[in-house]
Amino acid sequence: MEQNQSYNVKFFSGEEIPLELHKVRIVQKLNLIPIEERLKAAVEGGFNTFLLTTKTVYLDMLTDSGTNAMSDNQVASMLRADDAYAGSQSYARLEEAIKEVFNCKYYLPVHQGRAAENIISKVFIKPGDVVPMNYHFTTTKAHIELNGGTIFEIYTDEALKVKSQHPFKGNLDIAKLNDIIKKYGASRVAYIRLEASTNLIGGQPFSIANMREVRKVANEHGIIIVLDASLIGENAYFIKQREAEFKNKSIKEILHEMIGLADLTYFSSRKVSSTRGGGICTNNLQLHNRMRDLIPLFEGFYTYGGMSIREVEAMAVGLAETLDDTVISQSPSFIRFMVNELDKLGVPVVTPAGGLGVHIDAGTFLSHVPQSQYPAGALAAAFFIVSGVRGMERGTISSVRDANGNDVLADIELLRLAMPRRVFTLSQVKYAIDRLHWLYRNRELVGGLKFYEEPPVLRFFGGKLEPTSPWPEKLVAKFRADFGDSL
Ligand code: F0G
Repeated sequence: MEQNQSYNVKFFSGEEIPLELHKVRIVQKLNLIPIEERLKAAVEGGFNTFLLTTKTVYLDMLTDSGTNAMSDNQVASMLRADDAYAGSQSYARLEEAIKEVFNCKYYLPVHQGRAAENIISKVFIKPGDVVPMNYHFTTTKAHIELNGGTIFEIYTDEALKVKSQHPFKGNLDIAKLNDIIKKYGASRVAYIRLEASTNLIGGQPFSIANMREVRKVANEHGIIIVLDASLIGENAYFIKQREAEFKNKSIKEILHEMIGLADLTYFSSRKVSSTRGGGICTNNLQLHNRMRDLIPLFEGFYTYGGMSIREVEAMAVGLAETLDDTVISQSPSFIRFMVNELDKLGVPVVTPAGGLGVHIDAGTFLSHVPQSQYPAGALAAAFFIVSGVRGMERGTISSVRDANGNDVLADIELLRLAMPRRVFTLSQVKYAIDRLHWLYRNRELVGGLKFYEEPPVLRFFGGKLEPTSPWPEKLVAKFRADFGDSL
C-alpha cells in the first residue's frame, strides 16, 4: 500500500529504516535513572504520567504538542521579530504563510487550538444544537458541551478496530450523517466537524473522497463544515501515500484541496508548526466577521492573538516547512517503523500506523485487567517504570463518570506513545520497542489501578491513583532478575 517512501532507505541486508534527513546541532541532556527511582517517581505522581517531572523521564512520548523540534530557520526567524502590539511585520509574514499553505484569505490568530474551539463554539452553537463529527477531541467536546451542544461521533465500522488494513479509519460515515440531519433537522446541526489525523482513535486520517461526500451532504442542507487541522500535514501525507488520485500531487496541492472543501479551518500551532498559537481560517468573509470581535476579547489584538511576536515569526516559518515532504513525513515514518516492529513481536498495536504516535492496545495487552481498573493507565505507569518512557493514557481514565458516579467505559483502551517531530533518534525508538517487548512478555505481572484523588473535571490531568495490589514491586524484581544492574 505505502510505496514511494522517499524517507525510507533499504540496507544491503534488506532491512528498511526511516532515515533522519536532518542533523542535530543543539542537544538537551536526558536522564535515565534506575528503575527503583522510577518506581518512586510513579508513586509520587499518583501513577499518572501527567504528574511526572521530566527530571525522571528518559523519553517524553506524552505528546507531540509543543514538543516537536524547531528548525534552524524557525529559531533564526525569532530574532527578527517586529515587536508591536498592532500592525507588526511579523504578523504580515504570518498572514502570507497562511495564504500560501492554507490558501485562506481570512485568518484570526489565537493562543492555542482550544482557544479556537472556544470561539467557534461560542459563535456557532446554541443550546440544543448537535455537532456530528468523525471523532471528538477532549477539549473540543468540552467546549461544544459548555455551549449547550451535543456531539455525535459517526465514524465508520472500521474506525475502532485495533487491527485493520483500512487506509482511512478517520472517515465519516455518510449514512449516519444523513440520519442525524433527518432526525434533528438541518437547522439544529451547528456544523459538521472533521478532524484531520483523528487523534483519539490513533492518529487515523480521512480521505478526500470522503470529504467530498461530506461536502455534498453539507451543500444539500446548507450546513457548514469545520475542519480541525491540528494534524493536517500528516493527513495530507497519508492521502498522498494512500489515495491513488493524489499520488503525484504535492502536499501543498493536497492541503489546498482539503481546506477548499471546508468552510472554516482551525488549528493548534503547537502541533502544526512546533510553536504556541493557532488560528481560524476561512475564505468566507461573513463567517470571519462573526468571530472577529471575540479575538481582542479572549485572545489579544488582531495581530498577535495571545502569541508572542517571536512565536508569530516561528509559526510562519514552521507552517511553510509543513509543505516539505521530508519534514512532514518524519514523524509518520518513525511511527510506522515502531508499529511494524511491535507488530512483528506480537505486541498489540493499532494498525495501520497513523500520525501523532504509536497506539498500544492496552485492552488486549492487559486483557486480565478489568476495564474498571484502567488497563491503559496501568500500562502507561508500568511502561514508565520499566523504561523511563512517558506515554499518555487514552482510555477510561480520560473518560468521565455518569450521573450515578459510574465510569463511562472508553470505546478503546489505548496507551499513546507520541512521536514528536525530529526529536528522537532511531536507537531511542529501538530502546522503547525493546522495553515494551519485555513488558509484553511479562504482562501478567501488571495489575490494575484505582483512584484515591479524582478531580470532577478532566480527571486524567490531575487525578491520583494507586495499584490494586503490590504489582509494581514484582515488576521491578523481575526487571532486576532479567537485566541485572542495567538501567
Ligand atoms: N484538536 C486536536 C485534534 C488536538 O490534538 C488538540 C491538542 C487540540 C485540538 C487542542 O489544541 O492543545 O493547542 O489547545 N492535542 C494535544 C495532544 C493536547 O496532546 O494531543 P491545544
